[in-house]
Amino acid sequence: MQIKQLLGGLSVEVFLRDYWQKRPLLVRNAIPGFKDLIEPRALFALTGQEDITARMVREDQGGWDLLHGPFMRRDFPSSKSSVVWTVLVQELNHHLRSAEDLLQQFDFIPHARLDDLMVSYAVPGGGVGPHFDSYDVFLLQGRGQRRWQISAQTDLSLVDGLPLKILQHFMPEQEWVLSTGDMLYLPPCYAHNGIAVDECMTYSVGFRAPSAQEIATQFLIYLQDRLQLSGIYQDPDLQAQAHPAQISEPMLTQVEHMIQQLTWTRADIADFLGRYLTEPKAHVYFNPPDDMPDFGEFCQLVVKQGIRLAPQSRMLFHENQFYLNGEPVTINEPGLLELADRRANDGRELSRVYLQWLYESMGDGFVVWDKE
Ligand code: SIN
Ligand code: CO
Repeated sequence: MQIKQLLGGLSVEVFLRDYWQKRPLLVRNAIPGFKDLIEPRALFALTGQEDITARMVREDQGGWDLLHGPFMRRDFPSSKSSVVWTVLVQELNHHLRSAEDLLQQFDFIPHARLDDLMVSYAVPGGGVGPHFDSYDVFLLQGRGQRRWQISAQTDLSLVDGLPLKILQHFMPEQEWVLSTGDMLYLPPCYAHNGIAVDECMTYSVGFRAPSAQEIATQFLIYLQDRLQLSGIYQDPDLQAQAHPAQISEPMLTQVEHMIQQLTWTRADIADFLGRYLTEPKAHVYFNPPDDMPDFGEFCQLVVKQGIRLAPQSRMLFHENQFYLNGEPVTINEPGLLELADRRANDGRELSRVYLQWLYESMGDGFVVWDKE
């Protein structure tokens, strides 16, 4: 797929300079001939799995309601019901190779920022209501049509007491009907409302942007595990106090000095980021293969079948240190760069050390065969 086509004729540089995190971009025919990655029936079946994050939003005269998966057949309103509904499935890229491939098309944004591919299915009139998201999003239209209304409004107050975020005063400024293959990019906090014109599916490429509070909290946890401070509280010059309950100034000064020993370097921050940004989310787990070959067989198969990261795996690097799923990689071999950037190795000209590492990683379920 052509990136220029995907971005409506813009180069990545121009898109990043003029649109990314700044203003919406509508791209007609971003992916010519786009075909849904999954049929609605198969999607509904997927929502029954324990390892799927699925939500259902229903709307009727009684208002909005939100249900969390897994969903059984009986949870889906019947076609005769007057309820308007939509079902949303997060991390489709963990479950479908085609979804992972689609997400990869967006890697003109760094992997550290890319999050997941969500898909929604809606009956005519369905949607999640007028809202805003804290993250950038590319909304790619699958089957059917969806009317998108958007607004640059700064009033982002929400209706109280609802199970989902609905804007109190949505004032649409622009509106388009998107057809299959069309795409809308929205920067963070841009008010929007997508209403299914007919039975429709929409794919959302989502990003991650941790808050300063979240980063600092996680960094303090990281530091705590590595703290090596010297000294113990001592007071050979202790003076008699008028009030035994008082915390004295010398005590405060000594503790202040102790805490000032807490320092860190840019290298600590890089190490923290590598671990933190590749840490799998809490609900994600890996599936080691049932039929693990022995190492000799593995080395032969790798040439034919190639290797790729498991869809759930996250891999990043800084300078020459690589990180995979929350841990630093203990080797430094040329194949790692390709594996991190392209999420695959073609399996040729790999050193024994690297093959050994891949073999162990396959045993952990972190890498899989590229071609089965
Ligand atoms: C949807 O696909 O219905 C919701 C996507 C969004 O508004 O972020
Ligand atoms: Co949204």
